[in-house]
Amino acid sequence: MKALITGANKGIGFAVAETLGKLDIEILIGVRSASRGQKAVEKLSAQGIIAHCIKIDLNNFDTIHKAAKEVDQLDLLINNAGIPDSYKADCPDLDQRKTTFDYTTDDLIETMKVNFFGTHEIIKSFLPKLVENGKIVNITIPIQPNNFWHPLAYQTSKAAQNIMAMTYALEFKNMGSRKQIFSIMPGGVATDLNGQTAGALDGYFKSPKEAGELIAKLALDTENHNGQIIQFDGKIVTDYEVQLR
Ligand SMILES: NC(=O)c1ccc[n+]([C@@H]2O[C@H](COP(=O)([O-])OP(=O)(O)OC[C@H]3O[C@@H](n4cnc5c(N)ncnc54)[C@H](OP(=O)(O)O)[C@@H]3O)[C@@H](O)[C@H]2O)c1
Repeated sequence: MKALITGANKGIGFAVAETLGKLDIEILIGVRSASRGQKAVEKLSAQGIIAHCIKIDLNNFDTIHKAAKEVDQLDLLINNAGIPDSYKADCPDLDQRKTTFDYTTDDLIETMKVNFFGTHEIIKSFLPKLVENGKIVNITIPIQPNNFWHPLAYQTSKAAQNIMAMTYALEFKNMGSRKQIFSIMPGGVATDLNGQTAGALDGYFKSPKEAGELIAKLALDTENHNGQIIQFDGKIVTDYEVQLR
């Protein structure tokens, strides 16, 4: 089996690559930085995992198209690469102090470009390479705003990503295809995305390893998850059937 995991040089993506790689699945990590990618490949190879990196920048569709040409076939596509907010070099993690009124439309566009348009372009470009029973898994977040957490750019971009996945799923079903696309919400995971701020809420944040194992388990089980959004405890939050009723 062969799996492509985007944004897998660190965080959740790297942990998914480690877990799948240890199950003898050949790993392709999609990375925007060749040097960060190479370091990740070395760490995976040191564990006996067959891993390669391939340049994929969700902000640069040429890299996506070139990567898709280089891949012969795929069993699993894990759309993990994502940004929490508009990217700031000095503050890459999500700024929890930012209120809804602080966001500019440009902030929304920047986040949407990566999480929604970039992910869409990956799906379009790699779909012809997906084997007949291949799976596409998107990594997502809860999208209903609540008083504890409601980052406008991040949540709206992932909401769009979720609907996109459900729409593709519906098409797969209507075509009688054995392909699946579904989304997993791993819950809070201590990574660079949230400034590794696990300490603020003891016991809430998982380690990337725990999230990686959860995602790998759901990606490889024999259930038909097509169209589902599955949260960290296995509960199906929604699927396209609910939307149709
Ligand atoms: N952490 C959480 O609590 C949590 C919860 C639910 C869902 N998620 C989702 O899980 C996914 C991974 O998040 P994480 O927490 O592991 O974050 P992370 O440690 O910040 O990793 C994000 C990865 O995405 C890559 N990336 C960012 N922009 C990219 C672009 N334009 N093109 C290609 N790759 C790009 C990063 O590459 P660089 O190293 O080059 O920046 C990095 O490899 C995201 O989609 C996130 O929304 C996270």
